[in-house]
Amino acid sequence: MGFDLGDRHIASPVFLAPLAGITDLPFRTLVSRFGAGLVVSEMIASGEFLTARPGTREKAELGAAIDNTSVQIAGREPGPMAEAARMVADMGAKVIDINMGCPAKKLTGGYSGSALMRDPDHALRLIEAVAGAVDLPVTLKTRLGWDDNARNAPDLARMAEGAGVRMVVIHGRTRCQFYKGRADWKAIRAVRDAVTIPVIANGDIVGGASALTALKLSGADGVMVGRGAQGAPWRLAEISAEIYGTPGPVVPEGPDFVRLVADHHEAMLSFYGVDLGTRVARKHLGWYMDRVATPPALRRQVLTAPAPEVVRTLLPDALDRPPVARSERLAA
Ligand SMILES: Cc1cc2nc3c(=O)[nH]c(=O)nc-3n(C[C@H](O)[C@H](O)[C@H](O)COP(=O)(O)O)c2cc1C
Repeated sequence: MGFDLGDRHIASPVFLAPLAGITDLPFRTLVSRFGAGLVVSEMIASGEFLTARPGTREKAELGAAIDNTSVQIAGREPGPMAEAARMVADMGAKVIDINMGCPAKKLTGGYSGSALMRDPDHALRLIEAVAGAVDLPVTLKTRLGWDDNARNAPDLARMAEGAGVRMVVIHGRTRCQFYKGRADWKAIRAVRDAVTIPVIANGDIVGGASALTALKLSGADGVMVGRGAQGAPWRLAEISAEIYGTPGPVVPEGPDFVRLVADHHEAMLSFYGVDLGTRVARKHLGWYMDRVATPPALRRQVLTAPAPEVVRTLLPDALDRPPVARSERLAA
């Protein structure tokens, strides 16, 4: 079961996906506490990181206690990407992931993220530069291709393996699909067949059943879960228990659920400060309230509360409720 990534044995290959604005240190800490093979940071734009643009270093705040953190870097130029890789390695990253899948125009216009898939020669120079800059395992996260006419992920993966990449994560959509339609887990099999390094399936995996189907159709060596963990930091541990037989998480309910959310809220406020922390926390509070179908008026009160103390006093009423049946569908 599992595989080695450098000198690390990944016993349970259920990974937390990088989600910009979401997989920050407080959330990764929580997910790790329940159990996860790897947790991936939000992407760090190499240029902004090197120039110390405000807000960028917080994204790379790794947390010494979390030893399964992978740090994702994004950029278009091999030199700055290599430099950023060296810096995050010095900060304690255990794994470095190259973003070659983000469809955001901000990135693709700047010729990075998924746009790199359109210029494999340039992508190869960038991968070689990063892999050559650090002793850590370097991984690659990408999509099936740019569009349906250019599904070149198998070629890219083969090339990446040749350049020293140790694991490839494939989101089963093309760039031009953005997040529409369903992830095509079957199409990931062509990547699995093209390389000998571990291949991880990603996209629309929200629980044990979808993880199992994704693994079966793709032949992948593990799964990566993003939106399915929003409001459910225990989700990866649940999936791992179902598939790999690891101990299942104790999923908090009632007062335990209230306590978990209050602690997460507090962690966000102390990590970001009250102003930014309050804004970041709203997304997470919304997902937690979805779980128990908090009545709309109360939900509004929580999300518009004028001060953190008011949020805290509202949480028991908002959250100490039975969870509603979980949908196997993701919000778009
Ligand atoms: C809000 C949001 C932010 C994301 N940020 C990143 C990112 O920083 N780096 C990256 O490689 N992918 C990013 N993704 C893509 C996810 O990592 C993942 O590939 C995608 O959401 C499909 O997986 P899921 O269905 O499990 O969420 C982001 C997706 C969302 C919805």
